[in-house]
Amino acid sequence: MTETQRNIFVTSALPYANSSIHIGHLLEAIQTDIWVRFQKLRGHDCLYICADDAHGTPIMLSADSQGTTPEQLIGRIHAEHERDYAGFEIGFDNFHTTHSGENREFAENIYARLDAAGHIKRRTITQFYDPVKEMFLPDRFIRGECPFCHAQDQYGDSCESCNRTYTPTDLVNPVSSISGATPVEKESEHYFFDLPAFEQVLRDWVGAGHLQPEVANKLDEWFTAGLREWDISRDAPYFGFEIPGAPGKYFYVWVDAPMGYFASLKNLLDRQSGDVEEYIGADSSAEMYHFIGKDIMYFHTLFWPALLHGSGHRLPSNVFVHGFLTANGQKMSKSRGTFINARTYLEHLDPEYLRYYFAAKSGSGVDDIDLNLDDFRQRVNADLVGKVVNVASRCAGFIHKRFGGKLATAVHDEALLQEFTGAGESIAASYEAREYARAMRDIMALADRANQYIDRHKPWEMARQDPGSAELQQVCSLGLNLFRILIIYLKPVLPGLARRAEEFLGVEALAWNGLDAPLLDHPVRKFKPLLTRVEQERIDAVVEASKESLGAGENEDTQVTSENEDTHETGAREYEDTHAVSAGAVNKYLVEDPVATEISFDEFTKIDLRVATITHASHVDGADKLLQLNLDLDGENRTVFAGIRSAYRPEDLVGRQTVMVANLAPRKMRFGISEGMVLAAGPGGEEIYLLSPDEGAAPGMRVK
Ligand code: MSP
Ligand code: ZN
Repeated sequence: MTETQRNIFVTSALPYANSSIHIGHLLEAIQTDIWVRFQKLRGHDCLYICADDAHGTPIMLSADSQGTTPEQLIGRIHAEHERDYAGFEIGFDNFHTTHSGENREFAENIYARLDAAGHIKRRTITQFYDPVKEMFLPDRFIRGECPFCHAQDQYGDSCESCNRTYTPTDLVNPVSSISGATPVEKESEHYFFDLPAFEQVLRDWVGAGHLQPEVANKLDEWFTAGLREWDISRDAPYFGFEIPGAPGKYFYVWVDAPMGYFASLKNLLDRQSGDVEEYIGADSSAEMYHFIGKDIMYFHTLFWPALLHGSGHRLPSNVFVHGFLTANGQKMSKSRGTFINARTYLEHLDPEYLRYYFAAKSGSGVDDIDLNLDDFRQRVNADLVGKVVNVASRCAGFIHKRFGGKLATAVHDEALLQEFTGAGESIAASYEAREYARAMRDIMALADRANQYIDRHKPWEMARQDPGSAELQQVCSLGLNLFRILIIYLKPVLPGLARRAEEFLGVEALAWNGLDAPLLDHPVRKFKPLLTRVEQERIDAVVEASKESLGAGENEDTQVTSENEDTHETGAREYEDTHAVSAGAVNKYLVEDPVATEISFDEFTKIDLRVATITHASHVDGADKLLQLNLDLDGENRTVFAGIRSAYRPEDLVGRQTVMVANLAPRKMRFGISEGMVLAAGPGGEEIYLLSPDEGAAPGMRVK
């Protein structure tokens, strides 16, 4: 290796501590992990740091609606996240949390330095306030009519119908989506970070030419549009760190979130008696890289470098931006079963399949990446099972049966071996440049070469003619040595396969610098299948287990998990619509056709369908898709929240009969308890058609 030893500090974006890790997060974690494993394999000192992003209004409200405290919620999720990432072999050196002592220290220190240097401004602003919940409302928690096109039920920052942006106070008939109350305007003093003061620093940083071209272009656009001061404070109640000297004011979650990178690093280094300053100080010679999705670019390429510079820290060496994950060409979807959680996947499939597939699809650009489930199965089976593992399985048997498990003492085809080792530098360059797809292509081309070599020499024929032939041993030994090199090249992507291969080959952990040391006169273990084929049934099982039927109310709940609270100020809105879990996806879920699953007759008869008369119907405050229905089942009364508001006026429903599921377990919703479900057909919106029985049916009658 000609490179000198590098000190590298690498991060993946910190997942929010109120939802599960899904395959979108995994795309990022796997891309990062491959890069880190590659650096380590090359002998560099590389630390992979992550944490949970634990602060902010959505987490506070999630805890609230689950009847727990934010501390308890983030503790539970932290354990889940660690377990899920570990299941995919994501090799963090540390996975901490932003709600930590270390992070409070960073937040307070950085803030103090910025304030002392005059970079913090104070100004009174007017904002919407929820008089019932007694809190100021982030834009995403206000809904109302678009001031431009008058579409109903739009967010406080932008309209999904006409795509225009505005401020919440422009909305017609605004409603708090937390309590359903009409918000009132209220003044409060806010703290602003003077981002415009850093324009030249940022321009110089971009100008140094490290950023991806797409990212540099985006920054140019943002410079042209003009940088604005950034509102970094939030009023109580808020789950976060209080701003020193400002009782009742908290750092906005996005202030201390990136500092969480440092806090997690410090937490690790403190345990190893290392010094965090060596990585983050203004004159640090270490490299620092952040892997992030394109939706959070503004935070990482403008706010964060400016905060760093203003507080006397180093700037990132680079910010590696990736696109979004889609599934079968569409946005990941809960009803189609393609919004796949890490846990669900792991219950059915080997994590290495997904690691390989993502590698095979990843380049250094910011384009979205599609997980096509057919392509996934074919690709993994053809490449990993059909090509790579095949090389070993075709050779191992002969070495065992004929040569006592011992490899030959001489190399059969030097030129071929050199072709394999010689490819190392260009494969390394591809990894370094995050051109993993190119690396995988080159590695698979080598695997093809190895298989062609075996085809050409036909060990099975040699074995028939002369079972103890020295050439047979040499051919199979070279086959296994070529396999060993393929495994070194694939090790950043497939650490599990590499471990099993090392065991089979009877070698210590393989590293890049072992390329030139073929195994000669060396005993190997008995061959066991190293990787099994992806079975279609397993994929089907994952999709099935990921399907969520969307009963009334579930769509409403999605709002509470809405992630980035105040996206308008980031200017990054245009990227937001690709955010798979954004609350904007709500309407979409309603119009998708669920796929029918076969059930037995017994299962069917468990459903207690009854004729019911609607005795009362009304709107539900704060739930713009729901109607509250009171249903009479011959003397027995039920309250049901039904997602049919877009199609019916309450007064038109009273008195009519419909069909309901009468034995559905009661569901606690934010507005009350729903005691059943009415049956309706149609794609959603205005096209929802409530079922009604023919004349003569009476309330309480069983539907069979
Ligand atoms: N908490 C912030 C990040 C703070 S970093 C100081 C956040 N969290 S997140 O959970 O919403 O997203 C974490 C990362 O996962 C982001 O980089 C985001 O872009 C990425 N992804 C989330 N969904 C994704 C896809 N569907 N596809 C690809 N990446 C996705 O933002
Ligand atoms: Zn509009």
